[in-house]
Amino acid sequence: MDFSSLRMDFPILQRRINGKPLIYFDSSATSLKPKQVIGAEARYYNEECANIHRGVHKLSEHATLAYENAHKGAAKFINAKSWQEIVFARNTTETFNLLMYCFWAGNMLKSGDEVLISKFEHHSNIVPWQFLERKIGIKLKFAELNPDYSLNMQDLENKITKNTKIVSLTHVANSTGTINDVKEIGKIAHENNALFVVDAAQSIPHMPIDVRSINADFLAFSGHKMLAPTGIGVLYGKKELLEKMQPFMYGGDMIKSVSEHSATWNDLPYKFEAGTPNIAAAYGLGAAIEYLQKTGMDKIRKHEKELTKYALDAIGKIPKIKIYGTQNPETQGGIVLFEHEKLEAHDLALALDESANIAIRSGMLCAEPFVGSINPRGLCRASFYFYNTKEEIDVFAREMQKIIKAFG
Ligand SMILES: Cc1ncc(COP(=O)(O)O)c(C=O)c1O
Repeated sequence: MDFSSLRMDFPILQRRINGKPLIYFDSSATSLKPKQVIGAEARYYNEECANIHRGVHKLSEHATLAYENAHKGAAKFINAKSWQEIVFARNTTETFNLLMYCFWAGNMLKSGDEVLISKFEHHSNIVPWQFLERKIGIKLKFAELNPDYSLNMQDLENKITKNTKIVSLTHVANSTGTINDVKEIGKIAHENNALFVVDAAQSIPHMPIDVRSINADFLAFSGHKMLAPTGIGVLYGKKELLEKMQPFMYGGDMIKSVSEHSATWNDLPYKFEAGTPNIAAAYGLGAAIEYLQKTGMDKIRKHEKELTKYALDAIGKIPKIKIYGTQNPETQGGIVLFEHEKLEAHDLALALDESANIAIRSGMLCAEPFVGSINPRGLCRASFYFYNTKEEIDVFAREMQKIIKAFG
């Protein structure tokens, strides 16, 4: 697979700013979009613009079919048993709020019940549970990390009690890039009669995922991190669990029938998809999944491992830079978390952008409890996708050295 030829699919990579190309190392925040995805979204507006599940006319039928096919594509992509196990939401954050609200509204959690997460979760897998701590008195517990920033599995096991109802973990940490052994964590959760929720926002774009082999009860991800447009995310849930749960939002399309004082709910997944959804983004998600499948998730993972190794070596050689993470491409996704011993994270990120259009992330990375515990003023994160190259990493390392020489 010639990954560099795929760069031609990304119009933004052809852009020059101040005569220089863009070096985009912020794909963990959102990925760039290929023309196939942009085209699919435009096709909806240009050719098939209609609401779904409503009209009997051709346009509505075409849009309904494409919307349903996007669910089917997502189901196949993660090896779900049925497309009815695929609920579309706005993003990963919304799916965590959906779960929290449904568990609460359906009395599936009560005072004293425990939700176990880890020390390096994204805010979207922390703050919704905090709401239930305040509202009904659940207990939120945090599994510790090892000194090498891998998850401390022993501590995770020790923290599970008979009150643990949910174990909710990230697959790949958005800060360090650490890959958690979700299969093993799922086994531990189920042995203790807890539900297992996986935050796959940082793994789905980068490696093959099989929800059945993980045995996840729920698994969440965002379209925009995997080439798709913003405004669409996926909650996978086992059918028997989704069937038992209360709806999240109420209104049009999520009902089967309505009388003045009562209503019955639509079949899955539409019971959880109230109102007009982001239809255009669903076209885009369908195209993104096709693109990733055609490229090959195994090949993407292999290529990103090489990039990560190269980046760890290059950044590791820069004086006064400290890297946080397992620093092993086998146990780490395409993310390098680092800081300079003197320069502020935002200053370094701004200088890279100014000098060579290099986009990295700086600050708390939406994981403030973890990142703030290392440096309360934030850290830097370079994150890669298959369209990045070793040459870009060379430019990045060179520019960092220049900036540090000048200011550090
Ligand atoms: C691990 C992880 N979980 C959840 C999210 C939230 O994703 P979104 O902002 O698309 O809801 C992110 C986004 O960076 C993430 O990295």
